[in-house]
Amino acid sequence: MPIAAGLLDGRIENHNVSGRPWWQRGAVYQLLVPSFLDTNRDGLGDLGGVISRLDYLQWLGVNAIWLSPCYPSPLEELGYDVSEYCDIEPKFGSLAAFDRLLDEAHERELHVIMDWVGNHTAASHPWFRESRSSRRNPRRDWYLWRDPKADGSPPNNWVSVFGGSVWQWDAATSQYYMHTFLRSQPDLNWRCPELRAAMLRALTFWLDRGVDGFRLDAAPLFFKDRLWRDNPVNPDYRPGELPDSSLLPTYTRNQPGLHELFVELRTLVARYAGDRVLLGEFYVPVEELVTFYGSTAPELHLPLNLALTHTEWRADVVGRTIAEYQSRVSGRGWPTTTLDTHDQERIVARAGLAQARVAAMLLLTQRGTPTIYYGDEIGMEGVAIPPDEAVDPQGRRTGRNRDPARTPMQWSSEVYAGFSAVEPWLPVGADRPTANVASQSRDAGSLLTLYRRLLELRAAEPALQDGVHEPLIAGPKLVVYRRRNAERRLLVVLNLVHEPAVYALGDEGSGKVLLSSVPDREGERVTGQLKVRADEGVLLALD
Ligand code: GLC
Ligand code: CA
Repeated sequence: MPIAAGLLDGRIENHNVSGRPWWQRGAVYQLLVPSFLDTNRDGLGDLGGVISRLDYLQWLGVNAIWLSPCYPSPLEELGYDVSEYCDIEPKFGSLAAFDRLLDEAHERELHVIMDWVGNHTAASHPWFRESRSSRRNPRRDWYLWRDPKADGSPPNNWVSVFGGSVWQWDAATSQYYMHTFLRSQPDLNWRCPELRAAMLRALTFWLDRGVDGFRLDAAPLFFKDRLWRDNPVNPDYRPGELPDSSLLPTYTRNQPGLHELFVELRTLVARYAGDRVLLGEFYVPVEELVTFYGSTAPELHLPLNLALTHTEWRADVVGRTIAEYQSRVSGRGWPTTTLDTHDQERIVARAGLAQARVAAMLLLTQRGTPTIYYGDEIGMEGVAIPPDEAVDPQGRRTGRNRDPARTPMQWSSEVYAGFSAVEPWLPVGADRPTANVASQSRDAGSLLTLYRRLLELRAAEPALQDGVHEPLIAGPKLVVYRRRNAERRLLVVLNLVHEPAVYALGDEGSGKVLLSSVPDREGERVTGQLKVRADEGVLLALD
């Protein structure tokens, strides 16, 4: 461990201040297994690496980790191309290593969430090899096969996320199969009862092993229109957006059957003790997002709120986005907040390093469960990798390269950032001299220390965990909101610009600074007005 031993002391428990389940109390840490830590010198992260950094994650103060897919895979698409659902990719480890990870995580009160890729498999999955072998194969119907139109062209106009038609001609059996993503990622047919049962068995396999939950990848896409109708053209499409956005997802997203499936998955996980949890990835409007908590019966515990991953970092836009989300989700389910994922640009690349602290404060003071993307806690910017050098197939095909946000975790300032002894699979950030765990863990003024303190405060302050969220100001410089419960009123004042700003406390009267993004004014009394410096965030306990 590059972390000074003394700093591992003073760690906080996941206080059960509210009697709420674990997934409502702490924060989820999203990490990419290939990019976290390499322990067998092949330049690729592995489960052994994750295990050896569990102390770090416990010290940081999160209570769950969400692992990128680590199933057997050709790894053409970061593991989102699964060739076997009930095993571990040998490059990452073994089932034994995974069991050890579970045990060691649980010993540290860290829960383990697996990424669950349910929309498609890799073409090398035995199911697909069987399915494509003959029209009469019993697994034919496990995937989506269609005849061509009379003129031989694809069945409809649907466009792949990575460009081109979703339909791939397969000469062996003279039909097209559907792929939302790469043609080496054929989509599964969730309307086929045998496929559905096989997928549920695979989920059971991991639940029985002790996994605490799943993040459902591409969750709104599992079902497609029964009539295979053309999607309408999207009049608002702008060049540079992902190719599938050129059409409206009328017949490819949120189709009949989806809610029933989520109810069934919820029923499955509810049979297990220990509050197993279902997260879901949805790029849908917020009014649609909240329907996935379930209307007539419970569905997902945490449909992820991804709005901030692609929202312009401006006080008015950010302030309105969180206010709208919090009001829509209120009464429907438990909220979530995410700044970054492996699919978007990192916050430092989008908003600048100066805003990283403000962003941390925003992320960790919302009502609901935050997800922290690995490396954000040390302000990693990522590496500008041009699309023609991309490992990410989306980068090569569309120019929207996701590699910059997937580079190795920076543990130290060494040439490979302490990630590996050999050259890593993606380049290491040039910011590693400062954006690294070893130096920031020794620095009381670092971003990493701020993350720790925010997580600690969140765990200790019921008002931050489940107090109501009252939006007060959205722009032009400030985002201001109040978090309140019966005992406590907290005010969060975030300055999203590079110049000072003033917030008039008005009716709020006066208070005391609990935490500032620059740790030099804690305990300060504030009356009448609060002056915030450029790029500063302040958390005030109101009198
Ligand atoms: C999800 C993942 C993304 C992947 C896609 C296809 O959107 O987050 O990384 O490319 O699914 O599996
Ligand atoms: Ca390795």
